[in-house]
Amino acid sequence: MSSERGDKKPEEVRPDAIRYPSGASMLGAATGLIHRFPFFEEIGGWLSLPEGALLYDLASMVVPGNVIVEVGSYRGKSTTALALGARPGVRVYAFDPHEAHVGSNGGVYGPKDMLEFNRTMEKANTCATIFPMSCGTELVAASWKKPVQLAFIDGDHTYEGCRLDADGWIPHVVNGGYLVFDDVNLDGPGRVMKEVAELTDWTEIGVVGKVGFLRKTDPIAGAASVSKPAAGAGESS
Ligand SMILES: C[S@@+](CC[C@H](N)C(=O)[O-])C[C@H]1O[C@@H](n2cnc3c(N)ncnc32)[C@H](O)[C@@H]1O
Repeated sequence: MSSERGDKKPEEVRPDAIRYPSGASMLGAATGLIHRFPFFEEIGGWLSLPEGALLYDLASMVVPGNVIVEVGSYRGKSTTALALGARPGVRVYAFDPHEAHVGSNGGVYGPKDMLEFNRTMEKANTCATIFPMSCGTELVAASWKKPVQLAFIDGDHTYEGCRLDADGWIPHVVNGGYLVFDDVNLDGPGRVMKEVAELTDWTEIGVVGKVGFLRKTDPIAGAASVSKPAAGAGESS
């Protein structure tokens, strides 16, 4: 059938036309991540390549002196994306108690994931960038002292658990920093992300796959309390 009636094909969005926060294209960031660790997609977990590339890109914008926090590491897929994107000197604090339990979405978790996590870190050569924290974040966040420029929340997916994590880390995120939620298609993380977006100093930036991200922009402090992204850090070399 011809399209003379005026029905138009939906416009195709090319991955190299989608821009991530550093200015890198989705394709450039994904190529950069795979270039750094060709086995990325073999790591156990549910993070897609464009979602991992988003974390890689956001991590590349973190300025030394600030840190990255991850809540829920599982077997290290998101941790790897964050660690490989991070500039030299930027550390990733990866929280996961790795206790045996069934998550609210039916995922089965336990100590064997810690073993896989350690293997992944060794294979990806990221041991020097990561601080594995074998605990939940709910107690630690209250006494945290380091400025956080990127917090990725992918632990307890119940509304209450996710809200607790967001409430714990929000005060530590520096102006211009990012708060990222996985699984915003689910009720718990999705609702929490909407609530954060309603706070005056937070702006929802976008969603890649099921990963949603917001930026802290304190109107009093101004937009630029963190410096510019590293040139080309999210692009392949
Ligand atoms: C969906 S998996 C994380 C997947 C991982 N982020 C990735 O993309 O590869 C959820 C993980 O959160 C952990 N978890 C559950 N409650 C937590 C909490 N309060 N703090 C930190 N981690 C938690 C579980 O042990 C599980 O390994």
